[in-house]
Amino acid sequence: MKILVINGPNLNMLGIREKELYGKQDYEALLAFVRDAAAPLGIDVECFQSNSEGAIVDAIQGAYGRMDGIVINPAAYTHTSVAILDALKAVSLPAVEVHLTNVNERESFRHISYAGMACVKSFIGLGFEGYRQALIYLHDLLNHAA
Ligand code: DQA
Repeated sequence: MKILVINGPNLNMLGIREKELYGKQDYEALLAFVRDAAAPLGIDVECFQSNSEGAIVDAIQGAYGRMDGIVINPAAYTHTSVAILDALKAVSLPAVEVHLTNVNERESFRHISYAGMACVKSFIGLGFEGYRQALIYLHDLLNHAA
């Protein structure tokens, strides 16, 4: 089972950016966490991060025919990007949305999630653990669909 994990803008700045919200662990620590979470599930995980909306759209399109599912934290593009929503709909792979923080308890502009409209599930406000929950969810979903 192959899962693409996509992280959007500024998530490469984890450990530096707004530590009171996002914590002290850096992006490398997130990658290690994701790989450690994927291994016992037998998931072959590919991680991608970009600060560019178009590059994220390209990554989603590139998953078509190659990956079984997508875990995505589109970061700020969550709240603005119809292009990412359309890309997720276009490939029609099962996708799970993750946010480190509880976006629903933050500014009102963070309450809308375009990407989430194309996702089968969202894990919000669980920190790194949200990525593990997303992988478990896709693992179970894809195994039951098989
Ligand atoms: C985020 C929440 C977004 O609102 C924000 O723009 C981010 C990170 C999160 O993981 O909590 O960059 O997606």
